[in-house]
Amino acid sequence: MYTQSFSVPDNAGQKNVAAVPSTENPELMAAFDARIDADGRIEPQDWMPDAYRKTLVRQISQHAHSEIVGMLPEGNWISRAPSLKRKAILIAKVQDEGGHGLYLYSAAETLGTSRDQMLEGLHSGKAKYSSIFNYPTLNWADVGVIGWLVDGAAIMNQIPLCRCSYGPYSRAMVRVCKEESFHQRQGYEALLVMMQGTEAQRAMVQDAVNRLWWKCLAMFGPPDADSPNSAQGMRWGIKRISNDELRQKFVDATVPQAKVLGVTLPDPDLKWNEARQHYDYGQIDWQEFWNTVEGNGPCNKERLATRVKAHNDGQWVRDAALAYTRKQQQRAQKEAA
Ligand SMILES: [Fe+2]
Ligand SMILES: [Fe+2]
Repeated sequence: MYTQSFSVPDNAGQKNVAAVPSTENPELMAAFDARIDADGRIEPQDWMPDAYRKTLVRQISQHAHSEIVGMLPEGNWISRAPSLKRKAILIAKVQDEGGHGLYLYSAAETLGTSRDQMLEGLHSGKAKYSSIFNYPTLNWADVGVIGWLVDGAAIMNQIPLCRCSYGPYSRAMVRVCKEESFHQRQGYEALLVMMQGTEAQRAMVQDAVNRLWWKCLAMFGPPDADSPNSAQGMRWGIKRISNDELRQKFVDATVPQAKVLGVTLPDPDLKWNEARQHYDYGQIDWQEFWNTVEGNGPCNKERLATRVKAHNDGQWVRDAALAYTRKQQQRAQKEAA
């Protein structure tokens, strides 16, 4: 439902930021800048400035890890889904998230960063992922709200990335966004069913919305005034729409959906502003956001420990796959000799 109301003009927000002076080869730099200005794509074999490569690796790393860690809060509910239908949907969704992580790790590999390096960053706590996944999923309605709001916010963030200047990242996003759209709809539909159920079910939905709403608004990142990297990201065509603009679009799209659902969004300051033609909303608790990003949210340690354990438990699979490949290669060599 977001994708239909969402179109990005070519070069939106790009041209108004001056190019950063560079110490790189001026000819190569000029060719790179010209390609970016013409809204062309940069491919893995193309020359690119180091800072562009680093920015992309950092962003793709955070994105990939968010997909993978994002499997955990919902995976927690697979064995307790209320029906076979909901279980099948949830398994498919969680599996999709794993696939998204894998596309993104592959995209980072095209920039010269290996999967092992990325995983080392995640497992050591150096690399970041979306702070929303450091909160617990306390009741079944959390699964629906994650689909509706968390995947909904992810779609808002990711649709503009389909036009990111780095080819492999932009192409990965096309499929990811289609799958996210399914995630968002399944969550909203599950909540609609619950809201037509018992009083206790409606209370569960409202409770989940109360706990997750503000965290979803924080998913778009710090306010534009506090995002020093955003202007450069815009200049490079990596970022197309600012954090605050995306957040506003999300609020504007979500308020009518909440009305249809019959839930209250937990913000007394949320109201339509006729002059702005947007909804105004209250203050996000950035202190809490940074605290969670720094590793002190309610589930940071648990999430990381679960990831590291899963990786270590899978070591024998990787060892077996490598041993099998070696055996195949030896056999092929023998046959060729
Ligand atoms: Fe995803
Ligand atoms: Fe998703």
